[in-house]
Amino acid sequence: PSFWVVIPAAGVGSRMRADRPKQYLPLAGRTILEHTLDCFLGHPGLRGLVVSLASDDPWWPSLSCARDPQVRRAEGGAERADSVLNGLRLLGELGARADDWVLVHDAARPNLTPEDLDRLLTALADDPVGGLLAVPVRDTLKRAGPDGRVLETVDRSVIWQAYTPQMFRFGALQAALAGALAERVAITDEASALEWAGQSPRLIEGRADNLKITRPEDLQWLEQRWKS
Ligand code: CTP
Ligand code: MG
Repeated sequence: PSFWVVIPAAGVGSRMRADRPKQYLPLAGRTILEHTLDCFLGHPGLRGLVVSLASDDPWWPSLSCARDPQVRRAEGGAERADSVLNGLRLLGELGARADDWVLVHDAARPNLTPEDLDRLLTALADDPVGGLLAVPVRDTLKRAGPDGRVLETVDRSVIWQAYTPQMFRFGALQAALAGALAERVAITDEASALEWAGQSPRLIEGRADNLKITRPEDLQWLEQRWKS
């Protein structure tokens, strides 16, 4: 199916402890953000792509993709969900309709493969709600008390890690995010907004190496990986 993309890229990357937001750190000769946009640019189904950026972002204009006619810039917000909502508002101005598919993907997730993207698009094309790439947890899980002692082992077979892209209908996603934000519900991904609105997003199993670069060792790992 055809789809729109929103890339929230207005975070400061505090856990990365670098001299600039992590999406602008170099990886294999280009910035992480350029690699992330490349996962979508050139896809035959792409209708348009919005990047949500901090208002004082000095790095974006020097990227070549800033001049790509399919790419538009929106204002970032205080939280990730605010940045996504601002991006959706711009998609509306660009002509997105209520039933159109929107994919939201973290700026700091540059290792999305074309196969994973197409598996998500194909699996959800006729789905009434939408869903997200997700990865089954690998490690044994423990629930612990405040003293750091194990209370119990959790059944991991039903636990998944929520990845991106997350794929929902434009109208439903915008309404769910706006509603959840207005009621101050904690929203850490798009799916949680849809869940708050009473929907059940579908999990599509993806590759574990579509990781979000969060800490310095994540970037080192990906650098090594791309070298070999
Ligand atoms: N993001 C955003 N607007 C915010 C906060 C985050 O657009 N107000 C984006 C980040 O740029 C990132 C994605 O949301 O692409 C996932 O967030 P995260 O990994 O937490 O990035 P940061 O918030 O930048 O990192 P940290 O939490 O370590 O500060
Ligand atoms: Mg953050």
